[in-house]
Amino acid sequence: MAYNLLKGKRGIIFGALDEKSIAWKTALSAHAEGATFVLTNAPIAMRMGQIKELAEQTGSQIIPADATSVEELDNLVAQAQEILGGKLDFVLHSIGMSVNVRKGRAYTDEKYDFTAKGWDVSALSFHKVMQSLYKADAMNEWGSIVALTYMAAQRVFPDYNDMADNKAYLESVARSFGYFFGKEKNVRVNTISQSPTPTTAGQGVKGFDGFISYAEKMSPLGNASAQDCADYTMTLFSDLTRKVTMQNLFHDGGFSNTGVSQEVIEKF
Ligand SMILES: NC(=O)c1ccc[n+]([C@@H]2O[C@H](COP(=O)([O-])OP(=O)(O)OC[C@H]3O[C@@H](n4cnc5c(N)ncnc54)[C@H](O)[C@@H]3O)[C@@H](O)[C@H]2O)c1
Repeated sequence: MAYNLLKGKRGIIFGALDEKSIAWKTALSAHAEGATFVLTNAPIAMRMGQIKELAEQTGSQIIPADATSVEELDNLVAQAQEILGGKLDFVLHSIGMSVNVRKGRAYTDEKYDFTAKGWDVSALSFHKVMQSLYKADAMNEWGSIVALTYMAAQRVFPDYNDMADNKAYLESVARSFGYFFGKEKNVRVNTISQSPTPTTAGQGVKGFDGFISYAEKMSPLGNASAQDCADYTMTLFSDLTRKVTMQNLFHDGGFSNTGVSQEVIEKF
């Protein structure tokens, strides 16, 4: 159901790879809520992805940008405003990738150039995106910037590997940049800490099936789906949450505050 929550709002959505992507669902929801936006992804991802279909469905243009390249981000921010006809009201950062995870390196056997690359893509890129927006004065007052994160930033999930450290950094950047964006431009910055979700990035984590079933049994409301995440993001992009900023918001069916559930006890 749509409520016209984003009527007249303009934005940029990073990270729609295929229809399982959280960013894909978010783009469809933002379109249904009346927003116009530009879709972006790394040039390499777009060659394999189906982002063009999404662009057609939502009447959007695609501007390729590697989120680790300041030059490409500056270009994206300039072009997005030109295409959309003004400053931006919302930005979704939905980007994550660990080379150590991809190459099967354990946390205790990291290859540090892999670590650095994964950090740049998954964490520093959020700073780069915001710095491009900030320097170009591209955000409208009371705009909203959201990035996606996972609870491994606070608690240990051994197979989440170096992504745990990347997410801790990402959440810190949201607070730090959120201060300046709030003070100077009345723009809010938050992270959503989402349940495990069956997407390309999610399923790359070793033991993902066990992981997601465990979270399902631990969460009083069950896991939050990609669509649930898109719905929550609509509220954060809307004018109904204008004073929520610099927060890490758990969106996980109650997982993060549950010590143990009856279902999990019964398993033992
Ligand atoms: N799936 C989960 O279990 C889960 C849980 C919590 C948080 N998250 C987070 O949600 C976000 C979205 O992931 P998803 O689960 O939808 O998976 P996904 O694989 O569909 O999306 C990840 C996206 O990152 C993009 N990307 C990678 N390198 C890039 C680069 N250099 N420049 C620009 N884009 C780049 C990919 O092309 C892809 O579109 C990530 O930050 C992820 O860590 C996922």
